[in-house]
Amino acid sequence: MECATFAGKNGGQFGNLHAKPTAIMFRIICLWLCAISAIWAATPAEIEKTIDGLLARMTLQEKLGQMSQNAMTGLSSELKEEIRRGRWGSLFNGGTLAEKAEAQQLARSGKPGIPLIFGQDVIHGYKIIVPIPLGQAASWNPELIRQAARMAAREAAADGIHWTFAPMMDIARDPRWGRIAESLGEDPYLAGELAMAMVRGFQGESLSAPDSIAACAKHYVGYGAAEAGRDYNSTWIPETVLRNIYLEPFRMARESGVATFMSAFNSLNGIPASGNEFTLREVLRREWGFDGFVVSDYTSIPEMIQHGFAANPKDAARKGIESGVDMEMVSTSYYDSGPALVASKQLDPKLIDQSVRNILRVKLRLGLFEDRPVPPPPPDAEARSVAQRLAAESLVLLKNEGNILPLTAKSGRVAVIGPMADSPDNQVGTWAMNAAGNVVTPLAALRERLGADRVVWIPGLRDTRDRTRSGFETALQAARSADVSLLFLGEDASLSGEAASRAYLDLPGAQEDLVDEVAKAGTPMVVVFLAGRPLTFHSVSEKARAVLWAWHPGTMGGAAIADALLGTISPSGKLPVSFPRTLGQVPIYYNHLNTGRPPGDDKYTSKYLDVPVTPEYPFGYGLSYTKFTYANPKLSAAQVKLGGSFTFSAEVSNTGGRDADEIAQLYVRDLVASEARPVRELKGFRRLHLKAGETQTVEFTVKTGELAFYKGARRVTEPGTFQAWIGPDSTAGVQVQFEIVP
Ligand code: NOJ
Repeated sequence: MECATFAGKNGGQFGNLHAKPTAIMFRIICLWLCAISAIWAATPAEIEKTIDGLLARMTLQEKLGQMSQNAMTGLSSELKEEIRRGRWGSLFNGGTLAEKAEAQQLARSGKPGIPLIFGQDVIHGYKIIVPIPLGQAASWNPELIRQAARMAAREAAADGIHWTFAPMMDIARDPRWGRIAESLGEDPYLAGELAMAMVRGFQGESLSAPDSIAACAKHYVGYGAAEAGRDYNSTWIPETVLRNIYLEPFRMARESGVATFMSAFNSLNGIPASGNEFTLREVLRREWGFDGFVVSDYTSIPEMIQHGFAANPKDAARKGIESGVDMEMVSTSYYDSGPALVASKQLDPKLIDQSVRNILRVKLRLGLFEDRPVPPPPPDAEARSVAQRLAAESLVLLKNEGNILPLTAKSGRVAVIGPMADSPDNQVGTWAMNAAGNVVTPLAALRERLGADRVVWIPGLRDTRDRTRSGFETALQAARSADVSLLFLGEDASLSGEAASRAYLDLPGAQEDLVDEVAKAGTPMVVVFLAGRPLTFHSVSEKARAVLWAWHPGTMGGAAIADALLGTISPSGKLPVSFPRTLGQVPIYYNHLNTGRPPGDDKYTSKYLDVPVTPEYPFGYGLSYTKFTYANPKLSAAQVKLGGSFTFSAEVSNTGGRDADEIAQLYVRDLVASEARPVRELKGFRRLHLKAGETQTVEFTVKTGELAFYKGARRVTEPGTFQAWIGPDSTAGVQVQFEIVP
């Protein structure tokens, strides 16, 4: 069935695949071709030799063409002509499979005959949408995240895509910033581990396999630190924070072999990230030895003019190329100004060769110069199953007073209320432009599981921004007629993502008023939030008996939510980001320094007069339908030699009445160092499955090198006393103390 769809999209390239046996044969051939192409992958030396040959026969303008990328809106005759003469090295975010195939044929048969690399924002699923990255991060499950990226890669590759602009690993400490939705949260270690999993998923075993797509570590670097949470804003990050926090996930992604990087929009300490020799050449190339290519973000090269860093497009092109941005996205300053820059000796042509070499290296690694077969997409059911599992594991239970959840048969009639209960487009979240449809909403899933007669449905508001109260009366009546009210609130998809920063973190529209109205019924309320960022909702949760945080959960989100509400699964996600009590606490993050006056009873300590310093819900937090306790912390040795390793274990017990998952977290604190270190840093985590009544020992082996931090460019582990915790979140756990000795 999937192959038939595929054949249609492919414009008949693979003949009529409607017949089942043919489809099976086709799959076998594809798999065989995958295996062969992986085996035939050229050696690094062969690749460099091939590039030498290609560079030798390319004109300067053709080289600049390779360094240029354009959005693809179709295949006009003008674009065809440009492709033939090598005007573009890459096209992105558009074109049907047939158009891409034709464009590729034109590129390969033209002069200089170099294949295009087709890019696309495949951010959280392609056709079948999985939770937004921030939601995925709440699963703390790298293996499942890898599987989701693999699925997305297979779906995208089946549409002729070679390259995704993901994963995004910008550390986000400010929920006002709309792109927090695309981030993996506030912690560099968690974000790094999950970004690595995504890279492995997208790129598969070998880049040259037809169902692998190149990943892109973005946005390099510091983008998430946008001042005041306003998108594209300036960032000021001291080197110690840059290296220990913001660069760390990128370094880890580089370690996992990510093929490309994207330079960010923001300025970093006054230097635009797309013209930043320090981060792009010094750190990325020299220190980390990265040999893939760097693409600019959308028009970020000429934007250096507005930044006040480049005088004109020519100057911007020179600064972009000199700092190491190999490919320019959408804008044309490289192509337009390159020849004059070289002719006037303002730009060393060797830098152009170097950039083209980096780009061709990735194209060769992808096998684009060969007849890269287009693989079939994964079966819909397989993709949906991964999406549902990931949506389920990303659910975070924030409150469950009197164990009102899960609902049982005795819970009776259910009033489903709120703008996010049946809103497929909003439920999938930002970046879902290729979504397949057939989204399972919470309403649909609840009706299916409970039977339509047990569910009364009133939206109350048209969408989350709606301020009208005309639907309130019927919502109240619905609540009165039911035994429990399930409110589905949150944020529309358009309220997070790019250019979607907010100055308020409270519920948009008249949602709080809707809660107040429904509360008048006196029916117990359960609130499920579907949103792209942490929100402040204290007064709502006070009125609700239970709060379940579902993020924007993707295509299968409704099924996962209904399973959790009805107890088929127990929520097991943990927050990858701190939830503030109020906007005034932002930025708020768990791995802060202690200050000289940590908050205490004394007036002259670091605190607020009007609100506690602690978050509403801390990093790592999440409840379950069962109860977990931590006990018996054990260290393999109280002293460990520098360069050695130690093992720290604890017993985790499921003392409640049902089987469930728990995410055990390892935190460390370096008590005294030559630079003040955070009060806690995540150093490990494990998702455990425990049967009711079961106890398991969770064990972490830590090398002293993993406790290192950056002092300037140097990574050092300093001897001294450390504390460590194994626990359920960043504020709790069983504790030990140990020493690292020289
Ligand atoms: C701009 C965004 O910042 C980036 O993340 C995205 O990949 C590009 N546009 C391409 O769509």
